[in-house]
Amino acid sequence: MKFNGIDFDTYFKNYPDENGYFGKYGGCYISEDLKAAMNEITEAYQTICKSRKFIDELRRIRKEFQGRPTPVSHLDRLSAKLGNVQLYVKREDLNHTGAHKLNHCMGEALLAKYMGKKKVIAETGAGQHGVALATAAAYFGLECDIYMGSVDIKKQAPNVARMKILGANVVEVTHGLATLKEAVDAAFEAYAKEYKDAIYCIGSVLGPHPFPMMVRDFQSVVGIEAREQFVDMTGELPDAIVACVGGGSNAAGFFSGFLNDHVDIYGVEPLGRGPKLGDHAASLKYGTEGIMHGFNSIMLKDENGEPAPVYSVASGLDYPSSGPEHAFLHDLGRVIYDVVDDEETIDAFFTLSRLEGIIPAIESAHAVAYGMKLAKKMGKGSILINLSGRGDKDMDYVIEHYGIREK
Ligand SMILES: Cc1ncc(COP(=O)(O)O)c(C=O)c1O
Repeated sequence: MKFNGIDFDTYFKNYPDENGYFGKYGGCYISEDLKAAMNEITEAYQTICKSRKFIDELRRIRKEFQGRPTPVSHLDRLSAKLGNVQLYVKREDLNHTGAHKLNHCMGEALLAKYMGKKKVIAETGAGQHGVALATAAAYFGLECDIYMGSVDIKKQAPNVARMKILGANVVEVTHGLATLKEAVDAAFEAYAKEYKDAIYCIGSVLGPHPFPMMVRDFQSVVGIEAREQFVDMTGELPDAIVACVGGGSNAAGFFSGFLNDHVDIYGVEPLGRGPKLGDHAASLKYGTEGIMHGFNSIMLKDENGEPAPVYSVASGLDYPSSGPEHAFLHDLGRVIYDVVDDEETIDAFFTLSRLEGIIPAIESAHAVAYGMKLAKKMGKGSILINLSGRGDKDMDYVIEHYGIREK
């Protein structure tokens, strides 16, 4: 399929290019020292991850350890409540550790093992990536350092406990807003000192090349499975698909299965408390082009051109930029990026829990909220939503800040 001059039949061969660019976005803006480390990872990825042995081992792990494929479920009661549109969810909440993050962590940690590295290093926001990487590190016998902002440490206490139980070292980051952006800064700083023995396992389709490509490729299992399962269930493709976008890993993997189809694709960013800078983290909607954390993308900037403070009720969406591939698909118009606010999200959190018996992660509840609004707008057809994770980690926070909503 051709879309605005881009041939999606050959899209994955051409994007990113060999320097890691999706159009003008992406690249590798880091120190020479770290560039050598990135080149080592790129080369290893191109050779090791394409080998039969690696692919077979990752497939076996996904099936026997992660419990893949995760199912697609029809939302009977929610669809009936909203009218004539049929809503479905891809159940990444049922992936081991409760979110999509383990898909790229098992890939990255397996690569670390093949490369002879002893340690994995990463940042985490909601804690899902940290838990997933700590799990992968335990599985493969690697050391694991996870950098996390003190605000998120408080908000996501159960995930902090899980990381510690799994044997990871949780490093508290206290400067700035003490959330995801600061955690990424601190983790990169540590990696620059340790890259000979360690590998950085970034938590999303962010950072310098090759991470946006590598993480998308490891996450593409979500889109491949979802497309096949949906066609098996219904005999056709969905009319629209929806995923939440923080850094953009669950969306990138999910969307990759449908980019070459006549399917409308929606990425949902957090509007938080509203459109004022500092009250949201909707970088694609309100941001401009810029470089941070080693890549060129669209980002929210303050008056000095530095990454702006951001806010979302969902720690995992609380980041002032999104992956370069999303910036590219945004400019191209292949994916529509839109927003829902905290209130709509919390409403969807309770609605999905009560009508379907699925407590979604607050991040995923953004996609559910948008799917519900879209269903009303479409009036007929089908929508497949990527339910990127389960909400156990968020229950205490929601109850404390919003209470138990009336039925
Ligand atoms: C359940 C869940 N969904 C979505 C996200 C957002 O990340 P991404 O945009 O990379 O999928 C997170 C991040 O922690 C998460 O935990």
